[in-house]
Amino acid sequence: MLNLPIRPRRNRRTAAIRDLVRETELTPSHLIYPLFVHAGSEEQPIESMPGCTRWTVDGLLKEAAEAHALGVPAVVLFPAISDRLKTRDASEAWNAKGLVPRAIRALKKDLPTLTVITDVALDPYNADGHDGLVSDDGRILNDETVEALCKQALCHADAGADIVSPSDMMDGRVAALRSALDAADYADVGILSYTAKYASACYGPFRGALDSAPKFGDKKTYQMDYGNAREAEREAALDEAEGADMLMVKPATLYLDIIHRLRTRTTLPIAAYHVSGEYLMIKAASASGWLDEKKMVLETLTGIRRAGADMILTYFAKDVAKWHAQKQ
Ligand code: PBG
Repeated sequence: MLNLPIRPRRNRRTAAIRDLVRETELTPSHLIYPLFVHAGSEEQPIESMPGCTRWTVDGLLKEAAEAHALGVPAVVLFPAISDRLKTRDASEAWNAKGLVPRAIRALKKDLPTLTVITDVALDPYNADGHDGLVSDDGRILNDETVEALCKQALCHADAGADIVSPSDMMDGRVAALRSALDAADYADVGILSYTAKYASACYGPFRGALDSAPKFGDKKTYQMDYGNAREAEREAALDEAEGADMLMVKPATLYLDIIHRLRTRTTLPIAAYHVSGEYLMIKAASASGWLDEKKMVLETLTGIRRAGADMILTYFAKDVAKWHAQKQ
């Protein structure tokens, strides 16, 4: 026998003891469910994201209701806009009768306790597929875009959105959104800012879902360079000073260090977005039976929480909530 008075394995001996000492929990209450919606009359399976659907407004209500009943507190909406409504000024983004306002109204009427978050960015509506307005010579225009984002956010607030979530990465948009919302008497509407959104290869499947890939160039003049971490702290300081209520890091698993860094730098709640490509990596590897999907999802999402995320946006939200219900 070794002379070992200290044996860490004692705390791992039974499931009950392991539960007692577990440091990080993953429950449905931490999850935000991203949902795609379109104006058509049939549900459309999304080819680039197996297991995900472009919902009709009715289908969206049903899916959100099921997730909410299982304990998921919030959804975030992404619209697939028909090509004929995509313009260079992206004005469909603030059409009060548009798809997103209709979806918000329907959700808030049917499910008043569900928190409805909306994405604020122009890419689903922009003929160029960029998050911002594009000048004739192909530059992404910051200040003009911020003005457009304010109109979009007010349109979502008018329809009843609880939280708006700017994913565009323009400079100064959090301050502008806050003052536009406050001036319109929407002091209660929160801002979940995409603080550190990296120019990532992981968004491909999502762009397939919305047909929103940029028509020229890439998003590197506004989304962050994946070599940079200090820059995320700079963005976080700005967003906090500008009045963001929550900060987001995106993607999640390739950026656990960024989540952790922001956790040590801010007292604000932190969200992490487990994005479409991260979803697809698990889906594809488990479809072949090479990885166990449920185990992968739980380990991945718990890891994101352990890194410091309070909330996780994940396409697996409903699955996790189901597994959680089965365990109870
Ligand atoms: C765009 C936006 C993107 C995602 C959320 N909002 C894609 C992009 O920046 O091109 C990606 C989400 C995902 O991949 O799951 N405003």
